[in-house]
Amino acid sequence: MTHDRAALDALLTEKRRFAPPPEFAAAAVVSDPAVYERAEDFEAFWAGWAEELDWFRKWDTVLEWNPPHARWFDGGKLNVCHNCIDRHLDGPRRDRPALLWEGEPGDRRTFTYAELAQQVGRFANVLRDLGVKKGDRVAIYLPMIPEAAFAMLACARIGAPHSVVFGGFSPDSLADRINDADARVLITADGGHRRGTIVPLKANADRAVARCPGIEHVVVVARGGLDPVDMVAGRDHWYHDLADGVDGDCPAEVMDAEDILYILYTSGTTGKPKGVVHTTGGYLTQVHATTKTVFDLKDDDIYWCTADVGWVTGHSYIVYGPLAAGATVVMYEGAPDWPDKGRFWKMCQDYGVTVFYTAPTAIRAFMQWGEEWPGGYDLGRLRLLGTVGEPINPEAWMWYHRVIGKESCPIVDTWWQTETGGIMITPLPGITRTRPGSACRAFPGIETTLLNDAGETVDAGYLAITRPWPSMLRTIWGDDQRYRETYWSKWDGVYFPGDGAKIDEDGYLWILGRVDDVLNVAGHRIGTMEVESALVEHPAVAEAAVVGKTHAVKGQAIAAFVTLMGGREGDEALTAELKAHVASAIGPIARPEAILFAADLPKTRSGKIMRRLLGDIAAGRALGDTTTLADPAVVQSLKDRYEAKEG
Ligand code: WTA
Repeated sequence: MTHDRAALDALLTEKRRFAPPPEFAAAAVVSDPAVYERAEDFEAFWAGWAEELDWFRKWDTVLEWNPPHARWFDGGKLNVCHNCIDRHLDGPRRDRPALLWEGEPGDRRTFTYAELAQQVGRFANVLRDLGVKKGDRVAIYLPMIPEAAFAMLACARIGAPHSVVFGGFSPDSLADRINDADARVLITADGGHRRGTIVPLKANADRAVARCPGIEHVVVVARGGLDPVDMVAGRDHWYHDLADGVDGDCPAEVMDAEDILYILYTSGTTGKPKGVVHTTGGYLTQVHATTKTVFDLKDDDIYWCTADVGWVTGHSYIVYGPLAAGATVVMYEGAPDWPDKGRFWKMCQDYGVTVFYTAPTAIRAFMQWGEEWPGGYDLGRLRLLGTVGEPINPEAWMWYHRVIGKESCPIVDTWWQTETGGIMITPLPGITRTRPGSACRAFPGIETTLLNDAGETVDAGYLAITRPWPSMLRTIWGDDQRYRETYWSKWDGVYFPGDGAKIDEDGYLWILGRVDDVLNVAGHRIGTMEVESALVEHPAVAEAAVVGKTHAVKGQAIAAFVTLMGGREGDEALTAELKAHVASAIGPIARPEAILFAADLPKTRSGKIMRRLLGDIAAGRALGDTTTLADPAVVQSLKDRYEAKEG
């Protein structure tokens, strides 16, 4: 878990309350607390939201629930892209901006809904011309440029499930995801801007595709200005060449409510990342409903979510939710500290951002950088703030409230996961009295509880979700068994998210962090197993065990305990080499912060590495129970050495 004991105690005695400002509450999309009771008939509640969308054919049943498999809005026909774009073209939204994009160097592009329709339609026709058909998978490996959204929406338009891979992932990570999804087409760019340099996406893609026999076409968007770019004849095509003269009108495919919209890979406790499958009708219904109500979106809002489209937050709350709601979405390509640490606040000022959604790790970085950065800009149009991705410590919450929100913006701390597709636990900004550090309560229609291993209700334990919800994952791509085992085998018919939580006397939920071997580093999920496999692939490494250690900005950082081959001694050079090795095997987000070489790792008598003890060492805690160890001396000597090294 992310919090240490002292932080946890402080959290649970948090008594500060923040009621919505009266003028906010009066105008809020949801202002009546009775919404929770009304949503007790959760099928009717969600059906009400589904009615707001355009359906080519209405559903026959709201929910078919054969645990653990759900079908929502069964029999209904719709198209997600049609709902995100075409649905807005007959009214005043047509000529309102859908996308306000800014590149890291400062270049800008804006698209009205009508222009977005043309861009997406053209992209969809290009994919069709390449032979992409309904059901074919398309991999997307792009920087945060408008084409990332166009490509996703184009796939949705023609019914081709997309698999977006974060641009920071390595060629190997990209190749694994392409192969697992068996994608036919890869959409990438020559490069993208990050902190003043160009990330060479096409070069990475080439190394990946060398391992991907199923890829027939690579579509390359010109962004980085890289010249020359290696283009393989017959396989690689510049997007602007393919799109030249192509019509912007493309009919939207009629999709079944349960057809796949996308696959998105996320880290688990074992093995390779798993492909989380999201479908069409239920997913869109929930992201639409939560976008409108949690972010209180009105037509004149300027909404900015700082996530990357490579993560689920980018899927649900940059692209699908906000566009379905007809919002004006700000999208930014680069780093928050480029060219200086005021970049986000300058953008908030320049675009008049009203709703701002970011991660606690970013807020903690802003705190460290100092109040003078936001202080230098006019943030007066902000009216609502959000956070997602990891527990927010009350100190960061208060800073966000005071320095960014000027004590007048509600904060929505939203708990959800790649698997849940949409927000599950959150304040409703017009009615909830928020508390710093609490995600408050389940969204209307969602039912959560806390359980122990025996399935008994407890005040502190595992978070559990007791009813199906529309945007739930439907399976793991190609591995339904893993779907059943990972999420549905702990208790009967109840979903296990892998988080620990506590409920207080007022029914507020306090999410404490992962209870499994998944780390949350700067809001990114990383499986300890993935990092360990990368380490043992290095010829010098015999064994590796990876744990999380508390980090002031990132929440958690990666600590690796490593034994070396053939009695080799570790040194600074090897430490640097192993860190670089992991970064290049998985991606820079997985780079270990600390590596400790050990002669031996603490193991049980049956040979299992005792990660819990390593976690105690990395956290500087007293060692827990060591009686089951094969050799208790191993762990004490490791602890001494770790402390000597880390201070
Ligand atoms: C954690 C990101 C506390 C949690 C949308 C979850 C949070 C994992 C919060 C999912 C929050 C996300 N408070 N913890 N508000 N939001 N988490 O799949 O551990 O990248 O299981 O989805 O992030 O991460 P994922």
